[in-house]
Amino acid sequence: MKGIVLAGGLGTRMLPLTKITNKHLLPVFNKPMIYYPIQTLVDAGIEDILLVTGGTNAGDFLRLLGNGKEFGLKHLNYTYQEGEGGIAEALGLAEYFAAGEKIVVILGDNLLQQGIKKAVDNFQRQERGAKILLKEVSQPQRFGVAEISGDRIVSIEEKPEAPKSNFIVTGFYMYDSQVFDIVKALKPSARGELEITDVNNAYIEQGTMTFEILEGWWTDAGTFESLYNATCLIAEKTL
Ligand code: G1P
Repeated sequence: MKGIVLAGGLGTRMLPLTKITNKHLLPVFNKPMIYYPIQTLVDAGIEDILLVTGGTNAGDFLRLLGNGKEFGLKHLNYTYQEGEGGIAEALGLAEYFAAGEKIVVILGDNLLQQGIKKAVDNFQRQERGAKILLKEVSQPQRFGVAEISGDRIVSIEEKPEAPKSNFIVTGFYMYDSQVFDIVKALKPSARGELEITDVNNAYIEQGTMTFEILEGWWTDAGTFESLYNATCLIAEKTL
């Protein structure tokens, strides 16, 4: 299986921190944010990794990460997203890299306490479709929220005002090779982006979406509050 880290976007929710650099290069305790999702993939046994970035600071990723030697990698792949087309558009750029294999996708601002190896191994054995990782939170409105019935997700709503559950969709997604056809068929949402939630809903309608619930803490780091929270959690884990 191949791994893709999505680290584009303009980080407008975090101005002025992101005025002169990419959100994923900001520090989370003692490392740049982007180190954590790469390490998560490496710990799950994935060594063929593509980093999708964008904006004016894309070259800084190459200077920082090089060929991934710090992670024990021999090589790192890079690609560039122009503009602000959304998470699903960024994923679409990975088609040539995936080359028909299953993929694990991580949002570059998602951090967690325990690894995702078990889920990745389970998806390796899943014949087709997709798998997402959920987490129960107290304030789900800021995320994609899953409506669950038994062992099935009924649908996902992106940032709903009245969430149907407290289970949110974290930024860890696993897909079979159909994902790129699904992305090509997407229409931009009201905010003008191709939404990852629409990709996941396509798999749900097809009846091939599975899910697992993450153990241990999970956080994104894409707002001031969550970045602060992520820093505290990593500091506690590290010190
Ligand atoms: C994105 C997804 C959302 C998901 C979240 C996880 O939101 O659209 O469904 O719950 O990542 O971090 P964003 O952070 O881009 O607003």
